Amino acid sequence: MSKTFNFYDFHPALADFRAEVTDGLRAEPKMLSPKFFYDKAGSELFDAITELTEYYPSRTEIGILERHGEDMARLLGRQCLLLELGSGSSRKIRLLLDALQPRVYMPMDISREHLIGSAEALAADYPELEVHAACADYSAEFEIPYGPAHLPRAAFFPGSSIGNFEPTAAGELLQRVAEHLGDGGRLLIGVDLKKDPLRLQRAYDDAEQVTAAFNLNLLQRINRELDGDFELQQFSHRALYNPQQGRIEMHLVSHVDQTVTVAGERFSFVAGETIHTESSYKYSVAEFQQLANWAGYQAEQVWTDDEQLFSVHCLRVDSRSTGGRQECREAVN
Ligand code: TRP
Repeated sequence: MSKTFNFYDFHPALADFRAEVTDGLRAEPKMLSPKFFYDKAGSELFDAITELTEYYPSRTEIGILERHGEDMARLLGRQCLLLELGSGSSRKIRLLLDALQPRVYMPMDISREHLIGSAEALAADYPELEVHAACADYSAEFEIPYGPAHLPRAAFFPGSSIGNFEPTAAGELLQRVAEHLGDGGRLLIGVDLKKDPLRLQRAYDDAEQVTAAFNLNLLQRINRELDGDFELQQFSHRALYNPQQGRIEMHLVSHVDQTVTVAGERFSFVAGETIHTESSYKYSVAEFQQLANWAGYQAEQVWTDDEQLFSVHCLRVDSRSTGGRQECREAVN
């Protein structure tokens, strides 16, 4: 085991889960936040998604990291404090660790067991590294639980998870990360690119129905944790590309008119009504750089694969570069 392994638990309370779910089911149109996908079963299903032939992002991003890891490490700076948002199985960061040799690694994820398992395994493999894992919801305000002030800071945000935020919220999240990093800090971030809508759609609606199981698992989680009575056979998975908004949308579609009870409250569905469970925004390189600029970063470098499927950006915090107060939505249009 490494010199230090610490775990900090800021996991949102069950009461927050209940309030967000019931608010979302009361809303019109109905919606649930994708951060709730990642209970234990959901995290395992997501790992299975990343192995699917149709789901090109994980494998493509890994290829880019393998090919350019040395250059990335040089830009991020050795001996830093490295924060990772949404570390998941920590598979990608391993590709950078040998080259980067950070002093402190701080993985942050909302999925508690998954985070502990993968961060402990990583600490065992890198005995010189100080590992401080934090279970937290980074879509809200978050704290960095530990950090020697003298170390330069860098952050890694892989998997195009930034695309799961509405553009305005994405810009605000990038701003909060910039505040944690401080002027001159670097952010290495993976962003899925715009492409043929059919290819996109297949990535979120695979032949083996793993993504469907992942989407439906959210209802199972609500049944279990919030005393719900969703009948899973009465809903199905739908993924579609919305070209106006430049995003994949995932929905759960109700087959029939039905009423469901969650946490003692009743919610009615008409046949064909959907719960919007996730968006995954796709950005061109220029669009994403504009968003980053708005949030207070200078684009330093960008790497893509030969097919232009996926991009990895190195951004440098430069508080002078904020693009004024216009909405991010405008910045990316
Ligand atoms: N960040 C991933 C993405 O937008 C998350 C993701 C991939 C996902 N496939 C999914 C989320 C399927 C829900 C369902 O690509």
